[in-house]
Amino acid sequence: MIWTIFLLVQALLLYFILTHRSRSKSDPPLDKGVIPWLGHALEFGKDASKFLNRMKLKHGDIFTVRVAGRYVTVLLDPHSYDTVINDSDSLDFTRYAQVLMERIFNLRLPHHQPANAKEMMKKHFMGMNLTTLNSTMSRHLQASLKAEMPQNQKDWKEEGLFNLSYSLLFKAGYLSLFGGEQNNNSTDPSSVYKEYKKFDGLLTKMARGTLKPEEKRTAQSVRQRLWELLAPAGLIEEAGSSPWLHAYRRLLREEGADEETQKKAVLMQLWATQGNVGPAAFWLLGYLLTNPEALTAVKREFSVISPMGTSETSLLDRPVNTPVFDSVLEETLRLTAAPFITREVVQEKTLHMADGQQYLLRKGDRVCLFPFNSPQMDPEIHHEPQKYKYDRFLNEYGSVKRDFYKGGRRLKYYTMPWGAGTNGCVGQQFAINTIRQFVYMVLTNYHLELCDPNAQMPEANASRYGFGMLQPEGDLLVRYKPRNTH
Ligand code: HEM
Ligand SMILES: *[C@@H]1O[C@H](CO)[C@@H](O)[C@H](O)[C@H]1NC(C)=O
Ligand SMILES: *[C@@H]1O[C@H](CO)[C@@H](O)[C@H](O)[C@H]1NC(C)=O
Ligand SMILES: *[C@@H]1O[C@H](CO)[C@@H](O)[C@H](O)[C@H]1NC(C)=O
Ligand SMILES: *[C@@H]1O[C@H](CO)[C@@H](O)[C@H](O)[C@H]1NC(C)=O
Ligand SMILES: *[C@@H]1O[C@H](CO)[C@@H](O)[C@H](O)[C@H]1NC(C)=O
Ligand SMILES: *[C@@H]1O[C@H](CO)[C@@H](O)[C@H](O)[C@H]1NC(C)=O
Ligand SMILES: *[C@@H]1O[C@H](CO)[C@@H](O)[C@H](O)[C@H]1NC(C)=O
Repeated sequence: MIWTIFLLVQALLLYFILTHRSRSKSDPPLDKGVIPWLGHALEFGKDASKFLNRMKLKHGDIFTVRVAGRYVTVLLDPHSYDTVINDSDSLDFTRYAQVLMERIFNLRLPHHQPANAKEMMKKHFMGMNLTTLNSTMSRHLQASLKAEMPQNQKDWKEEGLFNLSYSLLFKAGYLSLFGGEQNNNSTDPSSVYKEYKKFDGLLTKMARGTLKPEEKRTAQSVRQRLWELLAPAGLIEEAGSSPWLHAYRRLLREEGADEETQKKAVLMQLWATQGNVGPAAFWLLGYLLTNPEALTAVKREFSVISPMGTSETSLLDRPVNTPVFDSVLEETLRLTAAPFITREVVQEKTLHMADGQQYLLRKGDRVCLFPFNSPQMDPEIHHEPQKYKYDRFLNEYGSVKRDFYKGGRRLKYYTMPWGAGTNGCVGQQFAINTIRQFVYMVLTNYHLELCDPNAQMPEANASRYGFGMLQPEGDLLVRYKPRNTH
């Protein structure tokens, strides 16, 4: 007995000596939390935005917190973001990405060179090739809309707007990027969507390693099913079938990835390319429906481009100027896009803040930017930041507003829904085109309204802060019917 206690005390002592860390003068303020090892992990995971705001009030724009055994330095001054984003020598992007890849997708890529994959993606999602993608997506969107919101339907149909937007955009996106053109042999998009939604619901817990035992089993079986469903995607080269996925598969093969690994990587790409657009479209339409003057302004702009009613016209086949829509989208993303930008410190670095302060970043720690809290929800930058203002990003005479200030200085980053620097979103332009086309089609072809005219936007699910687009708790009930019926 006495020996047991003795050993236990020894072990505890050793633990505290090994994990002891105190602040030195050059370190950012250190907040370890009261729970050994875990530190602030629980509060962080429950509502990262609230937690980081609390820390900011306590410590200022930079501080270090302990989270599940790791020390994370959080930087919340957008004027200083570039010093983190620019320094890929001391601050490494891939290590933490690999940790997440393994936890979420059970994926370990051998000899992976992220820069090559990135180059390949750029080639397909940017530049001239975007035109092809534009029209493929446009075609699939039209087909999906016709299938799920039939033109001959006479009565109002009720539906949750989140479910509606997510499922439509997911299916059209899946067919465009994973299914291929003439390919009538691809897995049914509805079954992929159904499984994907289950996977998506467990994603944040997988990333944090907080699945309960039965959730773990569900996660494993859902992942397994998705791998099987995606196995044929991009495998056979045929005319018009998703060239980017072929290229991606080829790259993986060249890096020595076997079929098993490829399937896992393809699921990761499904998440990267389909996980954000649907939720973004939901928030955008939801804000329009709950802000009639915004809806009117967007409809007016669309009707100038092509008079409402000529429904077959596509916005995607030519360049169009839509400043009102662009502001509406920017404002939507300001309120609902909440990615972390995380780096691992691979060599000690002195961080020079914009205000002249200097701090030491220790090797092995992580650095995390959270643009949602600042700049996006920072009251010093955006007046009444909780409020949806559709014209926040418009100047008086309708041009794009780009000048926002903090501490009297103009900001380079006043919203950051797409990340930044070399790790920014390669699909940004394609995503914007897609959402615009979707909103245009829905508003032009359908009467769409709230079931309850006084309905408010649902709250965002706080557990998703840090994982890209937020998702609503519950849904917003809407009803719709085609415009051409009476
Ligand atoms: C509203 C929609 C979208 C948002 C808000 C969004 C946001 C982001 C963000 C913040 C990142 C950086 C992640 C990180 O730093 O780890 C990212 C990466 C990425 N996005 Fe998007 N995205 C959207 C749509 C899309 C679409 C439609 C595509 C596909 C065509 C796409 C393809 C990618 C890819 C491939 C990456 C990884 C880039 C890399 O390898 O570094 N995204 N996205
Ligand atoms: C970061 O890089 C960008 C472009 O590469 C440059 O414009 C900017 O001045 C750099 N900022 C800092 C703080 O190094
Ligand atoms: C378009 O994609 C093809 C591969 O399908 C590639 O060879 C070509 O370079 C790309 N075009 C541009 C402008 O990047
Ligand atoms: C894709 O479509 C959008 C319109 O939605 C247009 O502005 C853009 O220029 C198109 N991209 C290309 C490369 O054609
Ligand atoms: C979600 O949307 C799809 C397609 O619009 C519909 O078939 C399905 O019943 C909806 N599910 C729920 C739970 O509302
Ligand atoms: C598949 O597509 C080809 C060409 O579009 C068509 O001839 C064929 O009937 C289709 N097969 C099925 C099973 O739909
Ligand atoms: C919030 O998201 C988590 C994780 O995706 C999920 O388990 C939970 O049910 C969601 N809560 C609500 C109220 O939707
Ligand atoms: C459909 O895909 C499977 C592989 O998933 C392949 O064996 C089969 O030949 C394909 N059928 C057609 C008609 O392309």
